[in-house]
Amino acid sequence: MSKSSTNNRLPRAKGIDMASIYTPKECARKVRHIVLHPSNKQIVEEFIKIIHMKEKFEEHDVPIPNKVVMFGPPGTGKTLTAFYIAQQLDIPLIVVRLDAIIHSHLGETASNMRKIFDYAKSSPCVLFLDEFDAIARTRDNSDEIKEMARVVNTLLQCLDEFQGDSIFAAATNLEDELDQAVWRRFDTKMVYHMPDVASRRAYIRLLIADFEQEDLLYEPITDLLSGCSFADIEQIVLKAKRKAIIESSPLTFDHMRGSYMEYKPKVMAEPVPIN
Ligand SMILES: Nc1ncnc2c1ncn2[C@@H]1O[C@H](COP(=O)(O)OP(=O)(O)O)[C@@H](O)[C@H]1O
Ligand SMILES: [Mg+2]
Repeated sequence: MSKSSTNNRLPRAKGIDMASIYTPKECARKVRHIVLHPSNKQIVEEFIKIIHMKEKFEEHDVPIPNKVVMFGPPGTGKTLTAFYIAQQLDIPLIVVRLDAIIHSHLGETASNMRKIFDYAKSSPCVLFLDEFDAIARTRDNSDEIKEMARVVNTLLQCLDEFQGDSIFAAATNLEDELDQAVWRRFDTKMVYHMPDVASRRAYIRLLIADFEQEDLLYEPITDLLSGCSFADIEQIVLKAKRKAIIESSPLTFDHMRGSYMEYKPKVMAEPVPIN
């Protein structure tokens, strides 16, 4: 498919679009409060910088990276990072709908995958495949080995042929189950963790911002939310704000504690910070 192709419609399967499209502006809205761990921030920024310096890399005949994989627990910002990359590059984000492309006929799944990759190559975008493990499962760890291998092989071909100005991004919670050959195709890899104390503090400040507050002790809140994911923290802060609004009161530590108790986060041990 060429860039000048006029009919640039999203491919469809099972009667629905195979992906959802977000404009750079929509992406910008979504990433307003993003907090990246310094190690991931560095990786993303370097990635973006290289793409902005494309010509220079061409001069030196050094290929630019265009395939990112992110892995780690839910609610830690993998999907959000895909939005961030699209926003930074000022190109649309195309989020693949797995429910649309995965078909009971694996041959059909492979063909759908090819269609969505072709679409992504036709004009610059970030093509994002969430729950990547659903497709890229290791080939020697499944009952339907042969059939699944076909899907993985198509995926490998799509990744190898993926050139041009688009970026491929994938996210998974289960890095161990990814096919090794698929894994090797990625030039950029990022690991996500539950937020450490510095990230929690930064995120809580961004979320509360200038919401009217009283007795709001950021340090105890940062401690209270230890072990929560970013997604949990967001929900707990929203719930606490609602409580404050109902009472026509400024936000207090008691609102936060009450909200935490009600939300019942599935608290995990705090990770050892990486640097
Ligand atoms: N690192 C982060 N910084 C800011 N907000 C985050 C972060 N991670 C998660 N969130 C919040 O939680 C929501 C879900 O996060 P998401 O990126 O979908 O997590 P994942 O893809 O890792 O499961 C986001 O829309 C955002 O509101
Ligand atoms: Mg996600």
